[in-house]
This record gives sequence, C-alpha cells and structure tokens, in this order.
Amino acid sequence: KKTVKDLELSGKKVLVRADFNVPMKDGKITNDNRIQAALPTLDYILEQGGKVIVFSHLGRVKSEEDKAGLSMKPIADRLSELLGKDVKFVAQTRGEELEQAVADLNDGDVLMFENTRFEDVDGKKESKNDSELGKYWASLGDVFVNDAFGTAHRAHASNVGIASNVESAAGFLVEKEINFIGGAVDEPKRPFVAILGGAKVSDKIGVIENLLAKADKVLIGGGMTYTFYKALGKEIGSSLLEEDKVSLAKELIEKAGDKLVLPVDSVVASEFSNDVETDVVEGDVPEGKMGLDIGPKTVELFSKELEGAKTVVWNGPMGVFEMSNFAKGTSDVCEVLANLEDATTIIGGGDSATAAQQLGFEDDFSHISTGGGASLEYLEGKELPGIAAISDK
Ligand code: 3PG
Repeated sequence: KKTVKDLELSGKKVLVRADFNVPMKDGKITNDNRIQAALPTLDYILEQGGKVIVFSHLGRVKSEEDKAGLSMKPIADRLSELLGKDVKFVAQTRGEELEQAVADLNDGDVLMFENTRFEDVDGKKESKNDSELGKYWASLGDVFVNDAFGTAHRAHASNVGIASNVESAAGFLVEKEINFIGGAVDEPKRPFVAILGGAKVSDKIGVIENLLAKADKVLIGGGMTYTFYKALGKEIGSSLLEEDKVSLAKELIEKAGDKLVLPVDSVVASEFSNDVETDVVEGDVPEGKMGLDIGPKTVELFSKELEGAKTVVWNGPMGVFEMSNFAKGTSDVCEVLANLEDATTIIGGGDSATAAQQLGFEDDFSHISTGGGASLEYLEGKELPGIAAISDK
C-alpha cells in the first residue's frame, strides 16, 4: 500500500479521512485519544506544505433529529488546540461555502467539514457509499490520505468512495495499526499468546477461531467463560450464559485441546452490582451467584502461560471492570503484561482499551488500537474494505 510518505504534498489539497468518532457527554469530548492519534499524519502533511481538509463521521445519524449533538464543531476546536493552530470549520458536508473555503486554503492551513454521516439523512449516502458523494468529496482535493483505522471495516463514501476516485495513501495511524495487529496475527514472534475476554462468546467467535489457528495459547476470561464452563458440565449459578453457543463452545474446547486455557476461579456475587458482598470460588459457581471477574488463581495461571511470550494480543476485559469490585482481574492481567520483558503487547481496541486506560496502564503496552469493530474484524482475519481500497504502491 502507498503511505503518506509516498505522496507529493507541497501545495496540494490533501483530503484526510480520520476517525474522530469520539465519546461525548453533554457536548464535551470525554476521551480524545482518537484525535491525538491522528496528529502525526496531520503534522507531517502540514510540515510538507500541504493544505489539509480533514473530516470524519461522529455517531450514527438516521434522521434530521439525530444531528443534534453530533456536529464536528467541538472536535474541530479540540483539534485546533492540539495542533496549536487554527482549524477552520465549515458546517456543511457539501456546497458552495465548503468549496469556497477549500479554494481559499493556503499551504499549511487546516479545514474541517461537517459530520460525513449527516449525508445519511438523505438516503444513507455516506453509509451506502453513494458513488456521486464519494466522487464529489474526492473532487475537493488533489490526493487522499486515509488515516481512519477505526472506520476501516466500513465501506463508506468517505473512505472507500473517495479512494476509488483519487490517488490515495495510508496515514501513519493506519500504517501503525496494520504493522502491530497485522504483524501479530500474520507473522508473530513466538510464543504468541492471545487473551480473549468480554461478555459474549457470540461477539468473539471469529476471533477465537482465527486466533486458535494462529496463536500458541488462547486464554479465555470475562463473561463468556461461563458458556464454556457449561459446555464442560460445570455449575455456573446465575452467571451469563449463551445457551445457543454451548455446543459451539464444546466444539472449540475439543478442537483446541490444551491450547485453550479457561479460568480456574471466579469472583462471584449474588447480583450485578458493586454494592454486594463478593466471594472467590474455584471451578463451579454456586446457585444464586454469578461470576463477574476472574479470581487470583486464574491470574496466577495466566501469568504462567504468559511467561516468555514474545507476542500478546488482548481483546475483551476479564470481568466487569467498570465496577471496582470486579476490576482486579483485568487490572492484574494489565500488570502481568506490563512486566513482560521483550514482548510486543497489543490491546485490540474497544472495551479492553478503555479498561487499560481507566486502570492506569495506558503507557504500558506496545500498542493500544484505536479501532473497536475494525480491530475485531482484523483479528478475525477479515479484509478491511477501508484498507483494501487504498492505492497500491
Ligand atoms: C467505531 O467507533 O467503531 C467506528 O468509528 C465506526 O463506527 P460505527 O460502528 O458507527 O460504524
């Protein structure tokens, strides 16, 4: 694939698709990681004397009413602070004002236009990759840099559509994500250990299957543990269970043999709440209790399995980390990974990325992905349309 370094940028109008779909509360950004992650690409283009036209989607827009609270304006303001320079904001996704603002750009200027999904109100043009829309956006620039890794699993007008109409390249963030996640999955330094958690087996089937084929060990934690326990005939009390996934879990256990490692103890409570008494139980979960975190013996077991690992990929928390009573398993696993020597440690985005950040381990990993759905699909071994569409060298 081409990267931004392969492009002639000086004096060029450079379209940059970023993923600025950041969490917001009451009109304020609550986590700006995704904006920070786009800075290397933007800084580079500006240093090279390019004119930046940057854009993204924010949230999901189905109707005119959904637009409230989903303007890119607060994001343009935050980007301006982070870049230390003016970011001109145009509250349009197309039209004369936008075209004039583009024409007025000087080298080294930055312009952001409105939420690409505002085009979804009128026939889902963005999300359905309407060909006229992709062509229109492409016509605003000379070259296209796709740095929206978090959106790479979507084939939308603002990534795939533009790339099919103008020379395109990957930004530094996309390049970094591919090197870390793709590198781990396709040519890992071994031993390669995967840690998979989260509530549901159904969300992770593809990842479990792909990583069972590629990793040396797959450690399972989180709520999905209990569907596997059920498959082994264990008691699970009132723990989360996906009845229709029990036979699949059984198949996976049989196929994987000792490659698949399940928790040996759980932190349990009588309800899904932070205000109840907790207990640690080994194996079976007693009636009336539910497993909400992995226990200390499991942490010990996982820590042994991780000894000497050279590559570790982690996706999905080990317990209900949002509640302090059930955060220890996730936090302990963070700590084990932080202390591994000589290992490439990768968090595959989504909840586990949030957990690592909230628990204070943000700087202890080789890479924390900015993708949620995108990194999950990448770990499943799927081709990401946003990346596939980028021009080849
Ligand atoms: C994400 O946050 O996963 C991406 O920005 C994609 O958002 P979407 O799931 O609404 O397409």
